[in-house]
Amino acid sequence: MLISALEGCGSSKMIAGTIDNSNLKVPLSSFQQDKSSFRKYILVNNPDLKYPVCVYRFSDTEYTALLMRCTHQGAELQVFGDRLECPAHGSQFSDTGKVQNGPADTNLRSFPVTVNNDQLFISLK
Ligand code: FES
Repeated sequence: MLISALEGCGSSKMIAGTIDNSNLKVPLSSFQQDKSSFRKYILVNNPDLKYPVCVYRFSDTEYTALLMRCTHQGAELQVFGDRLECPAHGSQFSDTGKVQNGPADTNLRSFPVTVNNDQLFISLK
């Protein structure tokens, strides 16, 4: 299948998150690549979200969840490893959402993340 072929070579993984009480929920297992390795990030989508959320994993307990909306004029960002890039005018952001290159001059919107019972809760409030 095309999807598993793509995952197999390490490209990004899109997960359908569920929204519950303004938390976007994703199973932690979404980061598991095989028994001992983890994806650096996953992309989470939900029909109620206008933009996907990119979740970076730094450790078992440390994550950042970033809205993939460019803070310049609102284009949807693309992810390249540990940076996000805007296809519209080339702004770049780090894996913690900080602007690295303009024209954007505001960091990305980020959401608090908590881990509970093998689930990641991304607070959308
Ligand atoms: S909308 Fe992203 S750089 Fe302009």
